[in-house]
Amino acid sequence: MENKARLIIGEKEIGLPIIEGTEGDKAIDIRALRSQTGYITYDPGLANTGVCKSSITYMDGEKGILRYRGIPIEELAENSTFVETSYLLINGRLPTQRELNAFSVMLNDHSLVHEDMRHFFENFPRRAHPMGILSSMVNALRFFYPELPDEEDEINITFARLLSKVRTMAAMSYKISRGHKVVYPRHDLSYPANFLNMMFDSPVKPYIIDQDNVKALNVFWILHADHEQNCSTAAVRLVGSARVNLYAAISAGICALWGPLHGGANQRVVEQLQEIYRQNLSPKSLVEKVKREKNFRLMGFGHRVYKTLDPRAKIMKEMAHKLVSKLPERDPLLDIAMELEDIAINDPYFRERKLYPNVDFYSGIVLRALGIPLNMFTVMFAIGRLPGWISQWKEDRDDPESRLYRPRQIYVGENLRHYVPIRERGS
Ligand code: CMC
Repeated sequence: MENKARLIIGEKEIGLPIIEGTEGDKAIDIRALRSQTGYITYDPGLANTGVCKSSITYMDGEKGILRYRGIPIEELAENSTFVETSYLLINGRLPTQRELNAFSVMLNDHSLVHEDMRHFFENFPRRAHPMGILSSMVNALRFFYPELPDEEDEINITFARLLSKVRTMAAMSYKISRGHKVVYPRHDLSYPANFLNMMFDSPVKPYIIDQDNVKALNVFWILHADHEQNCSTAAVRLVGSARVNLYAAISAGICALWGPLHGGANQRVVEQLQEIYRQNLSPKSLVEKVKREKNFRLMGFGHRVYKTLDPRAKIMKEMAHKLVSKLPERDPLLDIAMELEDIAINDPYFRERKLYPNVDFYSGIVLRALGIPLNMFTVMFAIGRLPGWISQWKEDRDDPESRLYRPRQIYVGENLRHYVPIRERGS
């Protein structure tokens, strides 16, 4: 039974193959478990279940390591752009200059949104959350742009459409929600500069593009670009496994990301910090509340995989400092966040549970410094996560071992009982 895990159930012993990843991750292949023993595994939240083999992102939660296609996140944040990192994730390697130029041209060529889609935007209630609007609009893209053909070139156009149009739609939804004139994308601007311009340019006050802000937005999106099998990516793979079109799978990912335990945490972090500021509370009182109230959580803290500082949080914190130092007035939320972090990481409750700041803890301060409104924070995360979702969807589509997602359950309900006519059920 070499390279096999031995499982003994009662009198029966079986061998289950061991799989090893390129970085030494080990897994027990249980695909034959039910057919050989009648047993299934029980793993709520899939915390110990590998649902695929993937060569996109590597994470080590104990050491705080994150790499895209083998390249450390720190190196990408320092040297790359979001467009280049998107190419890396989708294609598996860094582009040559010629490939990068062609990819950028393709993104520019597909940046406009069909004019008829504007009617959709204009008819959402004014207070509709931009994440709800975005997921609906991405799903609606399918009606305006044709079904994915199988040829690789055509598929790449669909990827470019998504990457480019989602950014345009995000800025459009902001402008329309404010009752302002929509600003169209420009060919002469880079991906992040275009976004900032579409968000903030106005006929009465032209927007002056600040290169530090462009760099910051590049880094912000690079940090969010992929994170292996997180909740929204798993949603994209699960929905995609039914072989729906890409737009529908990404729309499902956006819905999952919206949740406060996932990407929606970036908005909640700032709301918590604002509450401390407005009510003049001490950060310590929030930490005490977390310990007192079982269901109350410190947003931006804790992670399913990281049991140490999230490497993205470290970069985000440095960036928050840089951007805040350029503002005409210091953002008081940064000081509150730092005090809160300091108290929490030294508190036994957080230490024992290995709860450290995650990417969302400082990302809101970065977004505030860039002038992004609070209800758009999770949309910013969604734009960043697009290349990850696309590459994971593509990997699943091309994986010969991929199957329709169909988990099992352990039924704990009523045993057989029979239908009782309503007149016999009593009052
Ligand atoms: N504040 C207070 N207690 C917490 C927190 C928190 N933020 N996170 C976990 N705990 C406690 C939890 O109550 C539990 O305690 P006990 O053992 O006494 O019952 C213990 O830590 C383990 O928690 P868990 O819920 O089993 O851990 P999980 O791996 O299922 O949850 C998490 C991961 C991210 C959902 C959770 O840490 C959380 O709710 N954090 C706040 C929301 C947040 O910041 N989300 C963003 C995640 S990073 C961005 C992304 O990729 O989405």
